[in-house]
Amino acid sequence: NKRVTTADFRRMKQEGQPIAMLTAYDYPMATLVDASGIDAILVGDSLGNAVLGYDSTVPVTMDDMIHHLRAVSRGVKRSMVIGDMPFLSYHVSREESVRNAGRLMQEGLAQAVKLEGGREVVDTVKAITAAGIPVMGHLGLTPQSVHQLGGFKVQGKDREAAERLLTDAKLLEEAGAFAIVLECIPQQLAKVITESVSIPTIGIGAGVHCDGQVLVVNDLLGMFSNFTPKFVKKYANLKEQIVQACSSYREEVKNRVFPGPEHVFNMAEEELKKIY
Ligand code: KIV
Ligand code: NA
Repeated sequence: NKRVTTADFRRMKQEGQPIAMLTAYDYPMATLVDASGIDAILVGDSLGNAVLGYDSTVPVTMDDMIHHLRAVSRGVKRSMVIGDMPFLSYHVSREESVRNAGRLMQEGLAQAVKLEGGREVVDTVKAITAAGIPVMGHLGLTPQSVHQLGGFKVQGKDREAAERLLTDAKLLEEAGAFAIVLECIPQQLAKVITESVSIPTIGIGAGVHCDGQVLVVNDLLGMFSNFTPKFVKKYANLKEQIVQACSSYREEVKNRVFPGPEHVFNMAEEELKKIY
């Protein structure tokens, strides 16, 4: 099974084959997601909410990302592994941005990076791409800017905002991005953008007309989420199953049902006598 590459992304768009992408944050989940045949695994900075217990992605650091990215990379053989560039890791200077993108590749063993923004990151995307690092863009609801956007809400609903996003998508393509995540925008706008660029669009809350879809794996599995956005479909309810399993264990410990005879080790009678 050979590794999915950016060339496969391009081909899948040309052939009209939808691209399926999910997040993962650790080794065991990464091996399972890879085994499912998913095309790309994003180690998203949604790590902050999904795994680290923050209420936004803003506190996530480069070191946090690399730590989890390495674990995921060790578990993945076939999917493309994409490392998310965290807050402020690609804003201070072009040099710092290229170096941080490079760290996600060299230390995190990613095959591509993702960063948020449109026209304001075009030069950065060019510089990172020029270093031989594939870049995935991210437009619409960009969670690192949540404090500026004034909350998690649908973007690009009026004509002016929609035109701005369409232009940003074209600029990202020109800058060398190999794909663009479209988050929380009207499906009609996602369709226009998808038809206007030759690189694949990967939607999350952006409708069925995108070239691919991405979801946070914890959301799809119904794990530990207090809040489920409208665009999430739950394919399992692991939260309930995990609480159920832990409480069965607790009950069996309290009632001395666990461990059972099949879970214990024995010693010879004779040896036992010697210690008395
Ligand atoms: O961090 C993340 O998981 C993401 C995806 C939702 C696109 O950026
Ligand atoms: Na992200």
